[in-house]
Amino acid sequence: MRHILRADQFDHDELARLFGRAIFFMEQDQHIKTRRNTLKLHQGRIMVSMFYEPSTRTRFSFEIAAAKLGMAVIGTENAAEFSSAAKGETIEDTVRVLNEYGVDAICMRTKEDGHAARAAAVSNVAIINGGDGKAEHPTQAVLDAYTIYQKFGRLDTLQVVMGGDLAHGRTVRSLAKLLSTYKNNHIIFISTPELQMSADVLKYLDKNGTTYEQTDDIEKAFTGADVVYWTRLQLERHSDAKLAHGTQAFTIDKSTLRYLPKKAIIMHPLPRVNEIAAEVDKDPRAVYFKQAGNGLYVRMAMLDAILKELP
Ligand code: CP
Repeated sequence: MRHILRADQFDHDELARLFGRAIFFMEQDQHIKTRRNTLKLHQGRIMVSMFYEPSTRTRFSFEIAAAKLGMAVIGTENAAEFSSAAKGETIEDTVRVLNEYGVDAICMRTKEDGHAARAAAVSNVAIINGGDGKAEHPTQAVLDAYTIYQKFGRLDTLQVVMGGDLAHGRTVRSLAKLLSTYKNNHIIFISTPELQMSADVLKYLDKNGTTYEQTDDIEKAFTGADVVYWTRLQLERHSDAKLAHGTQAFTIDKSTLRYLPKKAIIMHPLPRVNEIAAEVDKDPRAVYFKQAGNGLYVRMAMLDAILKELP
């Protein structure tokens, strides 16, 4: 595993190894003595953090993961403004130069679809896609899968409801693709017609034999769900306020919860805006903050896997 670019690049054995390693790092993190042991693992390694778009979870969890593994982290507060991208430098040239500086991993979030793959094409250093445009968010999909596995002990034979702005959200695209590599999952996409899941993802599910439905009926979608994966309106990717019309119907609140089975979990990649009411946070099925926390240990596991392969 040199680069992390797509959610479906991980085979099931590799995911199982990452999950096992994430548990190990979570346990190591509980005591200062074992934390200090973990710090010794990758001393002398450097991760560059290049975020051309805002981020709380992906950036901080990767930077903290690197720090806990003993790596040095070098970054810029806002790569779009404070790197030479602001003067017109291409992503390829930026990555070529970082390669010259002897770094070990470059974690990036870009505004454009496919930028992480373009960076990887010219890089001998591991490129980690922390989200590229509305295309993919592979490390989010792995931590989402880990969170689902934590609850159900499997990633197959699940009924998964994905809701919100499916047309512009990269997390739902990556998770749908990853889950479609497992058997017998059924995905229910719930949104307005304008914000439904893109045709390319539906085609991908068809190719893998994963069944799905598209609906705007929240009651029907929630009944029988194992996982509800909710997302916000991605207003940074479209400014058409008309598209927002109708999404208010897709707010999860106390009244919506009555449709949801007791065994289900409610996930959200966060940030949450108003599509999940704060009153839902106390419901035992709401796992979105735990999900975000899992991101730290899953990302430690991913960095560790990349670095272990280096000479
Ligand atoms: N889930 C996620 O990608 O959050 P951030 O945008 O805060 O990184």
